[in-house]
Parts: sequence; C-alpha cells; structure tokens
Amino acid sequence: MIVLGIESSCDETAAAVVRNGCEVLASVVASQVAVHHPYGGVVPELASRKHIEAIVPVVDQAIAESGIPAKKIDGVAVTQGPGLIGSLLVGFSFAKGFAFGHGIPWVGVDHLEGHINSVFLEADPPAFPFVALLVSGGHTSIYHVTSHRDFHPMGQTRDDAAGEAYDKVAKMLGLGYPGGVVIDRLAAQGDPTKVVFTRPYLDKAEFDFSFSGIKSAVMRHLQLHPDPSPGDQADIAAGFQAAVVDVLTFKIIHAAKAKGCAHLAVVGGVAANRGLREAVTRDAAADGIRVHIPSIELCGDNAAMVAAVGYHRLATGERAGLDDDVYSRVKF
Ligand code: KG4
Ligand code: ZN
Repeated sequence: MIVLGIESSCDETAAAVVRNGCEVLASVVASQVAVHHPYGGVVPELASRKHIEAIVPVVDQAIAESGIPAKKIDGVAVTQGPGLIGSLLVGFSFAKGFAFGHGIPWVGVDHLEGHINSVFLEADPPAFPFVALLVSGGHTSIYHVTSHRDFHPMGQTRDDAAGEAYDKVAKMLGLGYPGGVVIDRLAAQGDPTKVVFTRPYLDKAEFDFSFSGIKSAVMRHLQLHPDPSPGDQADIAAGFQAAVVDVLTFKIIHAAKAKGCAHLAVVGGVAANRGLREAVTRDAAADGIRVHIPSIELCGDNAAMVAAVGYHRLATGERAGLDDDVYSRVKF
C-alpha cells in the first residue's frame, strides 16, 4: 500500500510517500526557520501563511521524487493535532481535497503517535512492548507502547519541554532560534564540569520531568557572569546539556526496567541530540536494553512518520470523514 503523508502542525511543511508503512520512497520537509528566526520563536499567523505557499510544491516534489504516479497512491494520512490550529488546517484541508479529488481514503493522525512510530521507518524496529521517550519542542513524555496505536503515558514534563528549554537557553546565550542544534554543537566544544547545573530528577521512582529549573539556573549564572566569552558559552552549553541528558537518560532506562522491556526508543526533535544519543546507547547497553533512535532526518517533524501511522489505520479499514476537524491539545 502506498500512502501519501502530510504534516503541517507547527513550522515545517512536509510530505512523504511511504510503502507499506516502513519504506520511505520520498520525504520532503520545507522548513520555515528563516521566517521565524528574527522573532526568536514561531509566529503562528506567519506559519499558516507559509504553509499555504508551500503545501502544493512540497506535495508535488514528494510525489515526483517517489517515482510513483499520483494515481497509484492508495491513501492519505495527515496530522490532525496537536499543534497550531491555523497550521494544522492547511495540511488537513489539503489532504481532504487531495483524497476526495483522487477518490481514495484518508485518515487523520496524531502528531505524537507519528513521532513514536518513526522508529518503524528504520531497518531494525523495536519489538512490542517497548518504552518510548518523546522529546521535542512541545513535549517531553515517556510512554509504554504496546502496539502501533496503544501508548500508555508513564510520565511527562511538569513545565517546559526539553526542546523548549534548549531553545530558551540558546536565546539567553544569544545563539538564535531554534537553539537545540546550536547548543548541541557548542556543548561538544565545552567542558561540562566547569559550570554544573543541578539535575532535576524529582522523584527518582517516577517518570515526570521538570526543565524550567535548569533554564532559570542558566539565567542566574548569566546574571552573575554577564557577557560570556565564546569559551564560557561552550562550557555553559556543555553543563546545561549534561544536566538535561543525564535526567532524560536515567528516566528512560529506569522506565524500561520498571516495565521489564528489552527495547526502548527515543524520538522527537531532541532525539537528534548527539549527547543524548550517545548517553542512552551507552547506558542502555550496560543493562542489556536495545535502543532505537531514528536517523536525524526522522527525528524532527516529517511526514514519513505520519504516513507510517496512516498505513496501519488504513489497512484496518479506518476512514476519516469530510467534516472531521483538527485539534490543538495533547490527547494522551
Ligand atoms: O519534533 P520537533 O521537530 O518539533 C516539535 O514537535 O516540537 O522538535 C523541535 C525541537 C526544537 O526545540 C529544537 O531546538 C530541538 O527539537 N532540537 C534539538 C536538536 N535538534 C533539534 N535539541 C537538542 N539537540 C539537537 N541536536
Ligand atoms: Zn514534532
């Protein structure tokens, strides 16, 4: 089955063509980073307008690159929520129109479900049940995953998402938006023992997170030591990253052990973080737990993960209706 996936929940317009929920034939992501960069964050109204400009060329490009004629597409999967309503509506309305026009079925997909299923686009996917750490700009949660569509929340952030903390710390250091990838690069050049930030484990037996404390600690450090040199910036980035990575790594491995899972997954934009990938892989190996982290292109927002979920839905006969609507809030 060939599924066209569409994703427009935040600031990336993406389309992908995926065969049987696992083979990515084409995946195109048009980033709006340059548009939002001057504002230090995503401006919802600008995001919607850019999605409208990008959606047709991005879908055309994905279909062309896949080598599959449009009339051979069997179904459409599109992100229905959570996300920015104006942004979601662009992809969602387009998907309805595309499916209706081609006389093919379509389904709405949850964005978080998409991230969790991104590991099934890789060659060696996890076996059920497994635990998944979803770390992105909007979410930081741990799930016990028992099937392609059954996720049982084990814990989540009580304040900022990990990616949000990365973006805010980058802004404080004057490194621009989005900051995750810049801090990751800078951290590799710094000494994580020079500026040590407290690890917010909360209750070590629980799986909730809190990142606003580390963010405020960075701010206090900068108030006491203003105008850091490039070397100081690298040390602060390294200290911040070490604290975040320690907590994320400890909690996901602890979750796998608590559920007796032999497999764990790390997904979402922050799963691209080199420090996190290394730490989870190293520490889980010591406990005999298999680690599944998607390739960097599949960590951030993309439409291949949406098509992967859509495949399982469409294959079991699920169909969306033309009066279905998008939603902004997290469902699980
Ligand atoms: O999954 P995603 O593309 O969008 C959401 O659903 O939020 O995640 C974006 C987030 C941003 O906060 C970005 O700074 C962060 O992922 N990010 C990173 C890295 N690459 C992206 N954070 C840390 N290290 C990275 N290498
Ligand atoms: Zn995302």
